[in-house]
Amino acid sequence: MAEKKEIKIGLLGCGQIGTGLIQLLQRQSKFIEKRTGLRLKICRVLVRDPVKSRQGGINRKLLTTNAENILRNQEIDIVVEVLGGVTAPRRLILDALKSGKHVVTANKAVLAEHGPEIMQMAYHCRKQVHYEASVCAGIPIIRSIREGLLANKIDLLMGILNGTTNYILTRMAEQGQSFAEALKEAQQKGFAEPDPALDISGMDTAHKLAILSTLTFGTRLRIKDIYVEGISQIDLEDIKNAEEFGLVVKLLAIGRLVDNKLDLRVHPTMIPKTHPLASVRQEFNAVYLHGDAVGPMMFTGKGAGPLPTASALLSDIIDLASSLSANRQDILTIENIYWGNKKIVPISRTKSEYYLRFPIIDKPGIIGKITTTLGRYGISLSGATARLAPERFGLGHVRVITRDALESDIRRAISEINRFHIMRGKAVAIRIED
Ligand code: HSE
Repeated sequence: MAEKKEIKIGLLGCGQIGTGLIQLLQRQSKFIEKRTGLRLKICRVLVRDPVKSRQGGINRKLLTTNAENILRNQEIDIVVEVLGGVTAPRRLILDALKSGKHVVTANKAVLAEHGPEIMQMAYHCRKQVHYEASVCAGIPIIRSIREGLLANKIDLLMGILNGTTNYILTRMAEQGQSFAEALKEAQQKGFAEPDPALDISGMDTAHKLAILSTLTFGTRLRIKDIYVEGISQIDLEDIKNAEEFGLVVKLLAIGRLVDNKLDLRVHPTMIPKTHPLASVRQEFNAVYLHGDAVGPMMFTGKGAGPLPTASALLSDIIDLASSLSANRQDILTIENIYWGNKKIVPISRTKSEYYLRFPIIDKPGIIGKITTTLGRYGISLSGATARLAPERFGLGHVRVITRDALESDIRRAISEINRFHIMRGKAVAIRIED
């Protein structure tokens, strides 16, 4: 057992996540001290507005609007960054490292976009950066991949990494709610980003996939290496159709090794109802992966919200504090982090099954015309149905499920079909994974 030691923390940001961390630390500090011998103390808290009313009995004397009061405070060992955004947090994290502080952050955007620069600085300054809270909040996925699964070669990661979009898709599928209504609820519950466009566009998921893929595949990634499609185009019609085919629509992050190249993408995906990820509902997140020794495995839990995020932040703080208290230097070199550079598979060369929906004017020979065009691009089908609107003669949808097809072939076939005058709207294409 390590000798009792007080570790002092400076907190950058006191929004919902910062407040959650303060509350959780108040609740658990006695227990943590008993289990680890560590006394964790938040000494200063950087805020924009010190007079704003805050929950959780925060001592106002700790509040400051000047980051220097934290970065230059010789007593502070660990800086915890929960600000959100990219430019200011990047600068503050780099400054904290240069000022001799270890860093714990929940900021996925900063790590996805500036991870190599931050890790390089941490190594240069002989400091540690911990980021469990940046992906899947309460699920200890970073630690599991970094430590628990280190003996495995992982060749597949599939995840539901965004609570807001999973909440929206669940509410649309189960309650028939509109997209806008479901988003409003997610915002009220504190899952959504201050700018929810980051959630909806799939960028938040892409940031998290970049972090997990770097860790899993050891490769230095740029965010543009990831193909990203969000959920704003998802129609209730396609969610209902998925149900008929025994499928569920999820926004998935996929990282897959194909012939030693990396296929990285984020897009709405249909998965069979029997897939383990299909049962992950509401704001819950999950990571499904395959390791060569352990086989398939799934981690699930709350991926958004103040307390689940605080749980991950606090576990990082305890981990760091234990290493400081034991005088351990757990410093990672750049080679420890980026150990396996890989080429990226362009999206046009990826293959998958597809659900396609063609909104049509109901005329003789239409299904034949569509399937013949698909066939000309080498796309074979495992299912096809037509649904006509009985109340309005002349309107309908042709829906098909393809076998594995090359993305570039699907795009060319669709663009040809979209030009037929039997079409009364654009075709919808959603990839299927099993
Ligand atoms: N907006 C994010 C989500 C918060 O909905 O998952 C957690 O990163």
